[in-house]
Amino acid sequence: MTDNTRKLKRKRVLSGMRPTGRLHIGHYFGALSNWLKMQNARLPDGSPEYESFHFVADWHALTTHYADSSQVATNTLEVATDWLAVGLDPRTHDNVTLFIQSSVPEHAELHLLLSMITPLSWLERVPTYKEQIENLREKDLGTYGFLGYPLLQSADIVMYGEPGKQLLVPVGEDQAPHIEMTREIVRKFNFHCGLRIDTQAMMAALEYPQGAGEISLIKATLDRAEGLSGPGNKGGGFYPSSIDATTLEPRIRRLAEASGLRNLSDTFLKFENDFQEFVGAHAAFKKYVHFDEVLEEPDVILTETPRVPGTDGRRMAKSYGNAIWLSDPPDEIRKKAHNMMTDPQRVRRTDPGRPEVCPVFAYHNLFPPEKSAEDLARIERVDRECRTAAIGCVDCKKLMADALIKWIAPIQERRAKYEANPAEVWNVLEDGSRRAKKVAEQTMTRVRKAVFNWEGAGRKPSDERKVVAD
Ligand code: TRP
Ligand code: SF4
Repeated sequence: MTDNTRKLKRKRVLSGMRPTGRLHIGHYFGALSNWLKMQNARLPDGSPEYESFHFVADWHALTTHYADSSQVATNTLEVATDWLAVGLDPRTHDNVTLFIQSSVPEHAELHLLLSMITPLSWLERVPTYKEQIENLREKDLGTYGFLGYPLLQSADIVMYGEPGKQLLVPVGEDQAPHIEMTREIVRKFNFHCGLRIDTQAMMAALEYPQGAGEISLIKATLDRAEGLSGPGNKGGGFYPSSIDATTLEPRIRRLAEASGLRNLSDTFLKFENDFQEFVGAHAAFKKYVHFDEVLEEPDVILTETPRVPGTDGRRMAKSYGNAIWLSDPPDEIRKKAHNMMTDPQRVRRTDPGRPEVCPVFAYHNLFPPEKSAEDLARIERVDRECRTAAIGCVDCKKLMADALIKWIAPIQERRAKYEANPAEVWNVLEDGSRRAKKVAEQTMTRVRKAVFNWEGAGRKPSDERKVVAD
């Protein structure tokens, strides 16, 4: 395999996280552990399987926290510090890039261009939209920015697509509709901006016999295709002199819309294969109609994540005050473990318990994620002795806290190092933002060219760069 095909095979991964502040063990199992697996995954030839871009979505934070943005920067630092603490490391893994959204302003430009083609109804029907407005009543979320937030997310994602390379987004189920909308936007954008029909060349072609033959074939194919899909049209004749090339463009676009952009060329190929009189139609079509997939459609990797309950048994969330933070000191972890909710039916020490409903037992199963024989034996014993009331909850919680603290120790050791040196964390993010920007610039060059067709008007792509650089 050459270096290039290897790089092409490598899958792009894009994922963002809002700067909410320190991260908890729910974030670890919900996202970070998967990011780590992707950092370390190797293809059979030993090269990285994924090329991942992870960013702090600081603009996204503003969509809900615009009223007070004073914490965004410190929260960005906290999030990145935790990323490095768990072992994400762009300096030892060149397939990983960590960056800040607002340091790559191309995201805003792409958001703007995509906003031109995005129907309001698509944004309004995103399931979280109305729900969030209801849930966060105390904030006025009737803003333009909040409505557009899923589209900003779409821009974040497709920015890192590259033609021919798979683009993957690891998200939870709640975010899957955002990715579906992103796919629809990509299709719509490619349809509007990626399909080029060279009407002028068609007009010129009508002036000489071979060209006129080509245009006749294109027209005949359209006549036939329209005749098949709608009533009335009986197919056209082969009289080039009667062809108005300017009418062909809207007809080709309509066919593309009906058949799907990707199938457009196949329609021509199929007619050519099926009917003698259409031989040459496909080649003619390819000569005057060009299709660039400017943006790539992303795919979701639905990450199967274990449910991580909070210390009170509800979903772990900052706002519930039931989180165990990756940065909680051991004493704090012991205290939280001690106060954790258990099986509510186990009231007295002598009552048998049900590990399957107990959050403490859920934690026994989570820590450590990679279990030794000893770990497995301990968990099996707790399970058994809980059911027979042979072990008390206090002791059970102590065993769990020990395991959790042992697992978290190396994370906290790294965290302490980075906490003492925030400049190093900012450095990692700035290096990453520069790398991300290189990819973003490539995408935007394709996008701008597709939207504006500078070259068609005689402007060189390098001229566009000149303005940007001055
Ligand atoms: N919307 C995500 C969240 O609230 C964060 C995010 C922004 C994101 N852009 C993204 C996630 C792109 C995945 C891909 O958590
Ligand atoms: Fe939960 Fe452990 Fe008590 Fe059983 S013994 S109820 S698993 S805390």
